[in-house]
Amino acid sequence: MADKMTAPKVRNMKGKRIVCLTAYDAPTAAIADAAGVDLILVGDSLGNVVLGYENTLPVSLGEMVHHTRAARQGCKRALLAADMPFGTFQASAEDAVRSGVELVKAGAEAVKLEGPYEDGIEGLVAAGIPVMGHVGMTPQSVNAFGGYRVQGRGKKSDLVIDAAKRIEDAGAFCIVLEVIPASVAEKITETLSIPTIGIGAGPFCDGEIQVFHDILGLTSEPPLKHTRHFLNGYEQMVKAIDCYAEGVRKGTFPTEENSF
Ligand code: KIV
Repeated sequence: MADKMTAPKVRNMKGKRIVCLTAYDAPTAAIADAAGVDLILVGDSLGNVVLGYENTLPVSLGEMVHHTRAARQGCKRALLAADMPFGTFQASAEDAVRSGVELVKAGAEAVKLEGPYEDGIEGLVAAGIPVMGHVGMTPQSVNAFGGYRVQGRGKKSDLVIDAAKRIEDAGAFCIVLEVIPASVAEKITETLSIPTIGIGAGPFCDGEIQVFHDILGLTSEPPLKHTRHFLNGYEQMVKAIDCYAEGVRKGTFPTEENSF
C-alpha cells in the first residue's frame, strides 16, 4: 500500500495535523482505518473501556498481545501502535525490550510507554522498535496522582516539559500529552522537534488522540471535558437492538428473505 503510514512518516508530520484513535479489535481497527486515521493505538485503556476493569493497572502483556493481534487484522493503512502495560517496562530496559518484542510479534509497528524511562526507550529504539512517549496525566500513575487530575499546572509545568524533552532525547518519534494545560502543551510543541499528540491538552498540539468508544458515544454517560461524542452510538445501538428484538417477537424477522 503506497500511502501506508510508518513511524518515520508520522515523525515527519511535525506541524501537520495527525489523527490518532484507539481501537481494540479487528472491527474497530477496520472502522478507524476506513476513516483514514493516521495512527491506531491499541491502548491499555482496553482495561477500562473494553474489559470492564476499574483502571488500566490490571492490564497484562498477554491481554495487550491478544488485542493487538486482533487489531492487526483490521488495520491496513494506519500505523498500528500498542501500549506497554503497567509493570512491563518500569523495572529495566531488558524488561522493556522483551515486552516490546512481544507486541511487535503480535503486529504492532510501534509501542507507547508512559513516563521518561529513557533506558527502556533507548533499548527499544536500538532493537528497531519505534517508541511513542506519553507524559502528563499518565493513567498508570493514577495512584501516585491521587486520582485523574490535570498535571503540569503552575510551577509543575517544568516537570512535564522536562520529561517530554528527556523522552525526545531518548529517541521517541512522537509523544502523547495527556490532560495538561493548553499553554504547557503549546510550549512543549514549540520546544520539541517530534510531533506532539494531545488528549485533553488543547488545540496547539501537532495531532490528537481519542478513545474510540468516547468519540462514538458508545457509553450511556455524557462526554467528559476532554472528548466529544461525534455520534450518539449508545442510543443508536440500543434502538437498533430494540428493532431486532421487536422483529423476533412479532415474527417480522427472520423472513423468507433471510432463509435458505
Ligand atoms: O490507552 C489509551 O487509550 C491511551 C490514550 C492516550 C488514548 O493511552
